[in-house]
Amino acid sequence: MAINFKELSKKYQTPYYVYDFDYISKQYNELKEAFKARKSLISYAVKANSNLSVVKHLGQQGSGADCVSIGEVKRALKAEIPKYKIIFSGVGKTDDEIKEALELDILMINVESEAELHRVALVAQGLEKIARISIRVNPNVDPKTHPYISTGLHENKFGVDLNTAKRLYIYAKNNDNLEPIGIHCHIGSQLTELAPIKESVNIVADLVRNLKSGLNIELSFFDVGGGLGIVYDDETLIDTYEYAQTVLDALFGIDITIVCEPGRFIVGNSGTFVTKVLYEKINGSKRFVIVDGAMNDLLRPSLYDAYHKVEVLEKTEDISDCNVVGPVCESGDFFAKNISLPATKHNDLIAIYSAGAYGFTMASNYNTRGRVAEIALENGEDRLIRRRETFEDLIAHEEEYLK
Ligand code: LLP
Repeated sequence: MAINFKELSKKYQTPYYVYDFDYISKQYNELKEAFKARKSLISYAVKANSNLSVVKHLGQQGSGADCVSIGEVKRALKAEIPKYKIIFSGVGKTDDEIKEALELDILMINVESEAELHRVALVAQGLEKIARISIRVNPNVDPKTHPYISTGLHENKFGVDLNTAKRLYIYAKNNDNLEPIGIHCHIGSQLTELAPIKESVNIVADLVRNLKSGLNIELSFFDVGGGLGIVYDDETLIDTYEYAQTVLDALFGIDITIVCEPGRFIVGNSGTFVTKVLYEKINGSKRFVIVDGAMNDLLRPSLYDAYHKVEVLEKTEDISDCNVVGPVCESGDFFAKNISLPATKHNDLIAIYSAGAYGFTMASNYNTRGRVAEIALENGEDRLIRRRETFEDLIAHEEEYLK
């Protein structure tokens, strides 16, 4: 959908994030459709974009939620995701979080270590409940993505190895307060190659078969994690149909519901970060375009050296190399380095694309900058889904303690 950034900027001021909700539903439905041969649950990874309206919109399409803190679980519930579609993952859950998750009666807790399984059992015992769990298997497969978003190797902190997983299933089966219902594996994010996914789902599917034949443990959910990559630049993507087929092939002969936890694939390319030019300057021979957005608003370029396409709107002339930078007091505060852009003037608008995933959710208040507004576009209509933070918001939790 063509977005009228000029109108939106006039109405909401810059900087802001704008998300195309129709695109979000399209992505959700494409994936759901790819798995239609089997029972499946798409549990959107809330961490990618946790705005309540985004999560609610996905819930309305039928999505569940993959959450990584009790805060995200409560967000999902607030956004009306049914509790039986909510999964709680993560390597470091506190007892309080486990307790609350059990009280909220969500679908399952993804357990990532032996020690955690013991805590879940103890907490469940204290509540006189049975905890539905799944074990996250670390298949030791290299996902071939950025090391910071790679999770499926033993050198990463996530999940347990195959032997440990087996032991944990036996423990869970013999524990009155645990019910093993699922198995989980997520090898990394922004994956653009199918081979590592194939390798890992085959490893995990074999474990499912072994658990059934050797130990009589029958699981109901096979969670393939998230990780499907998107186009930021010129990436070749994994075809969703082939992706689903790979999972279906691995599970041949096993009666199990497929769970998938995509984040970026659903929301990444729905979102644009819009900022405006404050000034241009030249240091020596280096041209800088200084904009009103900064690394605290969209951290990915600074943190991962991630590429996001940057475009000056309605300008095409006088092109030269520049860095696009924000007002934050760090040399790492940039959106793009050494890119060709037309000459800009004060108040020209700049769009930074593919910013719908891990954009706002990784924003901070560094330099006492309020987090920006978020806007939804749906059926040609725009609406505010999070107001810009004010100075009062920023000091709200400190002011009363001022002596
Ligand atoms: N499931 C689990 C267990 C995860 O850890 C993640 C992402 C997902 C699902 C969703 O992955 P996705 O489909 O979005 O790739 N901040 C980084 C990405 C971190 C991903 C963390 N886990 C970035 O900006 O690239």
